[in-house]
Amino acid sequence: MKGLGSARVEVANEVGMARLVDTFKVDITKACKRVRMGLGFPSPKYRSTQEIIGASMSAKTIQNIAVIGLGTIGHSVVQMFAVSGCYVRCFDPSSSVRDGLENRIRDNLNQMVDADLFIKGDIETALAKITVCDTEKEALVGAEFVSEAASEELGLKQTLFSRMEKSVDAETILASNTSTHPMTDIARLMQHPDRAIVTHPFNPPHIIPVVEVVPGEHTSEQTIEVATSLLRRVGKQPVRLNKELPGFLVNRIQMAMIREIWDLLDQEVATAEDIDLAVQGSLGFRLAGLGPLKVCDFAGVDLWAQVFSNLADEITSTNKLSKGVRTLVERGDYGTKSGRGFFDYSAPGVLEAQVTARDRGFLEVLKLFHQRPIPTEN
Ligand SMILES: NC(=O)c1ccc[n+]([C@@H]2O[C@H](COP(=O)([O-])OP(=O)(O)OC[C@H]3O[C@@H](n4cnc5c(N)ncnc54)[C@H](O)[C@@H]3O)[C@@H](O)[C@H]2O)c1
Repeated sequence: MKGLGSARVEVANEVGMARLVDTFKVDITKACKRVRMGLGFPSPKYRSTQEIIGASMSAKTIQNIAVIGLGTIGHSVVQMFAVSGCYVRCFDPSSSVRDGLENRIRDNLNQMVDADLFIKGDIETALAKITVCDTEKEALVGAEFVSEAASEELGLKQTLFSRMEKSVDAETILASNTSTHPMTDIARLMQHPDRAIVTHPFNPPHIIPVVEVVPGEHTSEQTIEVATSLLRRVGKQPVRLNKELPGFLVNRIQMAMIREIWDLLDQEVATAEDIDLAVQGSLGFRLAGLGPLKVCDFAGVDLWAQVFSNLADEITSTNKLSKGVRTLVERGDYGTKSGRGFFDYSAPGVLEAQVTARDRGFLEVLKLFHQRPIPTEN
C-alpha cells in the first residue's frame, strides 16, 4: 500500500472550503468557475462563492472513496474525487496499472494546469489524497462510496459487487461505471441491492461533465440522492434516468448516429476523414453549445418534423453490423489500441499527440460548457 504525492495531507473537507476563501478571494468569478469545473463542492445552479460554500456545508459529506479498477476510466475517477478533497483508496489486480497510476494522474493534472483549470501547487495535495492498495479488501477499508471501474464483464461485476458488499459498512454505496449492464443484473448476487447504483461517466471522466445515474429495480431513493449529490459536489453534472434501459441514454443516442455513419461509409458516400470532418464541423460544433432538442427549437420543430418524414424511410434501420466495421474487427484493426482502425495511428508519437490534442480540445469545450446559461428550476 502506498500514498501518492509529497504534500502534507490536510483534512479532506476543509481543503476545498479553505481554498475557496483563501486562494480565490481575489477573484471570486474565477473561483466559482474553477469550483464548478471540478475543484470541489460545486453545483452549476449556485451563482456565487457564498452560495457554493453554504450549500456544500449542508450537503451530505462523504470523504472516503474507494475506486476498484484503475484503467482508462478508474484512474480518471480517482483523480476526479481526489482533486475535490476526498480521500481515495484504490486497487487494480494489475501491478503495472497500479504502478502507473501516479504518472497518469500527474500528466492529466499538468494538462489541466496548462489549460488554466487547475493550480500547479495543488497537484501534490491532490496526489497525497490517494492511497494505492495491494488488495481489494484494503482499498475498501473505511469506504463510504465505492466506484467500481473493472472490466466490462457481467459475471466479474456480479461477483465483485457481492464480495464488496461484505467488506464495507451497511450504509456504503456501491456504484458501477458500467457502460452497458443494468444495475439490476450486476446486483443479482447482492444481499442489499438497495445500495447499488450505476454512475456512468464518459471518457475521460475527469473532464467530461455529465454522469448518467441509473438506479436498478432495487436501488433506494436514498442511494440515488446521495450518489447524485456526491457527483454534484465533485463537479459533475448527474443526469438521472427514470427508467433502466440497456445502453442507458447517451449510448443509445450515440449508437443511432454511428449506425447511420457506418452505413454511409459502407455506401462510400464520403471518406472516413470527410465524414468525421462533416460531423465535427457541424453537428459536433453546434452540440458543444446547444442541446439537440434546443437545436430543433431554434430551427423550428415543424421543419424538423418535415425533414424527419422525408428521411425516415431513407436512413438505415439495420440491426446488422456494417460490412466495413466487420472487416476491421476481423482484421484486428480495433482502433488506437491496435494502432489502426478507421485511421492509422501506428507511426511513433502519433497516438500520444492525438490524445494530448483531444484532451486540450475537451478542456476548452469544458470551459464553454460551464459558460452556458443555467436553466431556471421550476
Ligand atoms: N472506456 C470508456 O470509454 C468507458 C466509458 C464509460 C464507462 N466505461 C466502463 O468503465 C469500466 C472500465 O472500463 P475501462 O475502459 O476503464 O477498461 P480498462 O480495460 O481500461 O480497465 C479495466 C481495469 O479493470 C481491471 N480489472 C480487471 N478485473 C478486475 C477485478 N476483478 N477487480 C478490479 N479491477 C479489475 C483491469 O486490470 C483494468 O486495469 C467498464 O465497466 C466500462 O464499461 C468505460
